[in-house]
Amino acid sequence: MKIAIIGTGYVGLTTAVVLAYLNHDVAAVDKDESKLNLLHEGRSPIHEPGIQSLLEEVQHTIRFTPNVAEVVPEAELILIAVGTPPKKNGEADTQHVEQAAKEVAQVCLPDRHYTLVVKSTVPIGTNQRVAEVVAEVFSERGIPGNISIASNPEFLQEGLALQGAFYPDRIVVGANSDEAIDTLRRLYKPILEQTFDPPSEFPRPSSYHLPPMMTTDPNSAEMIKYAANTFLALKISFINEIAGLCEEVEADVTEVARGIGLDGRIGNKFLQAGLGWGGSCYPKDTAALLGVAAQSGYEMPITEAARTINFRQRDRVIEKLRSTLGTLKRKTIGILGLAFKPNTDDIREAPALDIVRELIAAGATVRAHDPIAIGNAHRALSGNGETEDNKVIFTEDVYELPYDADALVLVTEWELYHKLELRRLAKQMKTPILIDGRNVYSPEEARAAGFHYIGIGRA
Ligand code: UDX
Repeated sequence: MKIAIIGTGYVGLTTAVVLAYLNHDVAAVDKDESKLNLLHEGRSPIHEPGIQSLLEEVQHTIRFTPNVAEVVPEAELILIAVGTPPKKNGEADTQHVEQAAKEVAQVCLPDRHYTLVVKSTVPIGTNQRVAEVVAEVFSERGIPGNISIASNPEFLQEGLALQGAFYPDRIVVGANSDEAIDTLRRLYKPILEQTFDPPSEFPRPSSYHLPPMMTTDPNSAEMIKYAANTFLALKISFINEIAGLCEEVEADVTEVARGIGLDGRIGNKFLQAGLGWGGSCYPKDTAALLGVAAQSGYEMPITEAARTINFRQRDRVIEKLRSTLGTLKRKTIGILGLAFKPNTDDIREAPALDIVRELIAAGATVRAHDPIAIGNAHRALSGNGETEDNKVIFTEDVYELPYDADALVLVTEWELYHKLELRRLAKQMKTPILIDGRNVYSPEEARAAGFHYIGIGRA
């Protein structure tokens, strides 16, 4: 199938590479010249396990261009995967989606049928709005136009993007026309029937079952995306709330999570207490959902509380440091992990950045390590002057991190941090205190290595 994808961010690029691997004829459009230059050289602008090698494998079959008019007229299906950044009031800004739809409608051939698919995460009602935008352009052009519109939300998990694209739990399609649904069913046929040869880096999991393609109306499809993310966000916030109480009553949240997770109705996933969620989705999508609700004058206290609890986790780390060290002035704190989660260099809404900023504001010096996100973190913190006067020192070698430090805070649970030589770290510190923000270590193990250990939700 001939496909044009507008936007080559995490979603657009992952989709482009996977669809090209499935032998579709893919063209990807992006206005960002630096991104296009990288892509023309066969280099991925995003860090995502496996994407570089898969891109190299399919590169000769994907066309990357800044020009919608070059690829849309010949396409059968057009996917919009542009960003929907938050507005000041938290609502998602759909101007790039509408602009993309407009540009597509301007170059559609009058005698051809197209399916236009919105993959970006958008407020409920956006697909309807896109249909209106497209109809307006057709009317200005004086052509009837022949386009079906569908919502096809993505559930991309950073660090697992390709795995999730090849082996999704489900595919959701919201459309009012059978034609659009049929086209999407043809698009995803190799995935729905798992007829492709798995790439060597992404073997098919033995327990994997064929995924359902759920079809519904566009508004419900848009809501599914927000509801799914908000549910996962509040599941994490719930266990974090329980973790706080565990600390008060001397219970262990990891045991509690194990015990409740064994209940099939609850399930054991997304019950890891810690520093909470960051990234490009949960903070933005929960805020956007509240924005949608506010427009209807509808209150969503559970969603509000999930956000409050999430951001409180970051403050609680600072409180733990204060109650252990007294003042933070002139103290040196080592930060293990800057990315919002492992296997990505994404630092958007990362707990680490807020914690670093708080520490600097309290007069501490920060030493920070991350396997791949130092560059991004440096840029983000430089903007506010936090990296000036050596207030934040980035170390490439994790064993240089604890030098002269008063405490370490493990913020991101990188695989590397699961196997640290704790004794070696502790020896270099002024006071060997470990705040384990992801409960990676057992208290016994850390204490045996000489640390004063403080986890999350553990007595
Ligand atoms: C998420 C959704 O998983 C995805 O379906 C959606 O499309 C976009 O948002 P992502 O933001 O990449 O994806 O990360 P995810 O793996 O869901 O984790 C989000 C955050 O929650 C991370 O900061 C992680 O550290 C945290 N988390 C996750 C916990 O604190 N505890 C857990 O048990 C699970």
